Amino acid sequence: MMFPNNFLWGASTSAYQCEGAATSYGKGLSVMDVSSVFQECGVTDVEVASDHYHRFIEDISLMAEMGFKAYRFSVSWSRILPNGIGEVNEEGIAHYHRVLDELEKHHIEPIVTMYHFDLPLALQDKGGWSNRSTIDAFTEYASVLFSHFGDRIKYWLTINEQNMMIIHGDALGTSSHRKVNNEKKDLYQQNHHMLVAQAKVMQLCHKMTDAKIGPAPNISSVYPATPHPDDMLAASNASAIRNWLYLDAAVFGKYNSIAWSFMESEGIIPDIHEGDMEVLKSAQPDFIAFNYYSNMTVQRSRGESITQVKDQQMGESEPGYFESVPNHTLNKNEYGWEIDPIGFRYCLREVWDRYSLPMIVTENGLGAKDILVIGDDNIPTVIDDYRIDYLRAHIKQMRLAIEDGCDVFGYCPWSAIDLVSTHQGMNKRYGFIYVNRDEFDLKDLARYKKKSFYWYQSVISKNGTSLD
Ligand code: BG6
Repeated sequence: MMFPNNFLWGASTSAYQCEGAATSYGKGLSVMDVSSVFQECGVTDVEVASDHYHRFIEDISLMAEMGFKAYRFSVSWSRILPNGIGEVNEEGIAHYHRVLDELEKHHIEPIVTMYHFDLPLALQDKGGWSNRSTIDAFTEYASVLFSHFGDRIKYWLTINEQNMMIIHGDALGTSSHRKVNNEKKDLYQQNHHMLVAQAKVMQLCHKMTDAKIGPAPNISSVYPATPHPDDMLAASNASAIRNWLYLDAAVFGKYNSIAWSFMESEGIIPDIHEGDMEVLKSAQPDFIAFNYYSNMTVQRSRGESITQVKDQQMGESEPGYFESVPNHTLNKNEYGWEIDPIGFRYCLREVWDRYSLPMIVTENGLGAKDILVIGDDNIPTVIDDYRIDYLRAHIKQMRLAIEDGCDVFGYCPWSAIDLVSTHQGMNKRYGFIYVNRDEFDLKDLARYKKKSFYWYQSVISKNGTSLD
């Protein structure tokens, strides 16, 4: 079995991590522009990031050279609506039209995330997602996007990694900036508001455009540490709380019962208004986009441990429900994330079995401290064989998942170009294209093709029939 002919090979980025121009051209601030996480990890300049705002023409032409069929990027909400609602920033609209023109010129399909962690600060100041009125703000923003770009974009993603924003609110800007009585209850209230907002926006998309739309969570299948029934239950808890809570609501329009019972026992059931559940029920995603980096392994909770969340792929525990443990059968990358390509096939099968909706992988990739060297032709490059190995192994497993019957219509690994990591600085790189800057030194921001650039170019040109 081969990849389908129209398979969407591409790669991903997000606005705040690569655009820069954070305070220029009429853009309002977002929660990520003022996040202390960047200062803590040493990046001194998210104002510039990878300077994609000014260099998108060069970047997109490099993507075209790689043969991209698709480019997944996010629109910055506060570039379109500097205050989150109200006045539209025409320069922002014009900018994304220019990006779309460029993609069109190269026949690259835009896949657009509406919101990738960067809530407008003006909304956060009013309580962010804890405030129910943010549902209306997101709907208003979506309506602006659909009316300006609805005829140019065929694939929309609603919210990037909503599940990670709930589980890692501190790093991803969701934790309440105000004092709240019960932080966890507040997060699950935010979650409910996001679910309702997402459902409304999916409906609106179908009303205003002919485009397709879907959610974009981070999904990890969960292995039990042993066959002990307690560990099996822990794995089932973890799956429900981490994955299915979000996808069941998006696809089936209801709360997952195991996740609900967890919220009930914890006293964190959100306030649900009359009509909310009908809204969830009536929205129909056309596909599931999801980000996959690795699976997770859990054992029964010892109960006494404190939730020790490290990041998206490590250390998640929910005292009383499950506790993450390392999987000693797997290797790790230099940041401690397990590398699990077979688990990717497993994960695709699981999502397909459960929802039977077409799937697109919107992130997958290897973060590494790449070293720039001088190549044969005297041009700087990175010999990133480790990244090629990672991607090759994952693409191979994705092909097997397709053979298993999974409907996968695209693959957009993280990331097209180097960009600022969510919490580990600029030198944790994922791109096919090297961006010449460091944490502290902006250098010349020149673009250099890594070895993986040429490898991916060959994979795409052969539609994945050869991964050499
Ligand atoms: C995903 C996010 O969780 O992982 C991206 O959607 C992020 O925004 C990517 O950059 C890689 O994670 P990190 O923490 O290494 O940047």
